[in-house]
Amino acid sequence: MAILKLARMGHPVLNRVADVIDDPTAPEIHRLIADMVDTLADASGVGLAAPQVHAPKRLVIFHISESRAREALDDDEDDEDDEENGKGDAVPMTVLINPEIEALSDETVIGVEGCLSLPDMIGRVPRFRHIRYKALTPDGSTIEREVSGFHARVVQHECDHLDGILYPMRMEDLSTFGYVDEMGRNELPLGERIRQRKKAADND
Ligand code: NI
Repeated sequence: MAILKLARMGHPVLNRVADVIDDPTAPEIHRLIADMVDTLADASGVGLAAPQVHAPKRLVIFHISESRAREALDDDEDDEDDEENGKGDAVPMTVLINPEIEALSDETVIGVEGCLSLPDMIGRVPRFRHIRYKALTPDGSTIEREVSGFHARVVQHECDHLDGILYPMRMEDLSTFGYVDEMGRNELPLGERIRQRKKAADND
């Protein structure tokens, strides 16, 4: 088990286009994935892209727990219909190698995001509501999914890391970008919820 050092905004590895992985089954790729899983768990995060651990390769991992899926439903502004459509479902740990994303409509939705490379900060970010993504898996097979809502948001956020894009670069209103600790003081209840979640995680 190895917990890798996280690159924070400003490090050049986060600004470059990451390299295609030629062999998803290579032992060094599997070692990197295992270390990224440990690192993500240690940070209590949802997703992690390889450049965030100083490995400029086209590889991301993510998982959405039941509680995160429920919480995320509240964050998108007009997702009332998502629950009945099953769009707030949990997603088990998923590894995407050389992922490709296609937006299935022009429709976007605003939701709150954070990033392990911008600790203690959050912001409201527009993302495509409905996407299809395709990638290789660690055993060399292909995964293809059509997803919406928070699942689609997480994949877009993580895959942006592979092209040197951090979420503030996608924001339309930078007045909604700030420190979690400060956000709870006005109209953004999410700041309070994230703070409480972090406190609970720290007490584990
Ligand atoms: Ni991120």
